[in-house]
Amino acid sequence: MSNLNYVVMLVALTFAYGLCNADTIYIRLNNFISDEVVLSCTSEGGFVTHIAPNYFFVWRFPIGKTEHCRAEWKGLHASFIAYDPQYDGKGADLFWIAKKEGLFHSFDDRSYDKNVSWVKS
Ligand SMILES: *[C@@H]1O[C@H](CO)[C@@H](O)[C@H](O)[C@H]1NC(C)=O
Repeated sequence: MSNLNYVVMLVALTFAYGLCNADTIYIRLNNFISDEVVLSCTSEGGFVTHIAPNYFFVWRFPIGKTEHCRAEWKGLHASFIAYDPQYDGKGADLFWIAKKEGLFHSFDDRSYDKNVSWVKS
């Protein structure tokens, strides 16, 4: 096997290994507002999604990195850290709820703490 083939194979194997063994958590945001909420997160490639009332969005995120997000509702927005390894630990899934009062965070989907309020955009 040529050196180049060898390198290509090594890169491919490393990539495949990374995909299979990526340590990730799930982050869920539930929309309890009777309007659409637009969620955008920037950290890993980034995404923008529209969450209808009473719907939720779940995404996977690598453990140990920090996920920065912004939610928008009508003329308001809230910036928040959806996953902070320092604060949230390494391994447990996270739950968020968007309410009229702001964004609420939970480790267990039972007890929720308010994290941020909406501010005018
Ligand atoms: C909001 O969440 C961030 C990151 O998860 C945390 O550092 C901060 O202390 C939280 N704020 C409140 C008021 O709970």
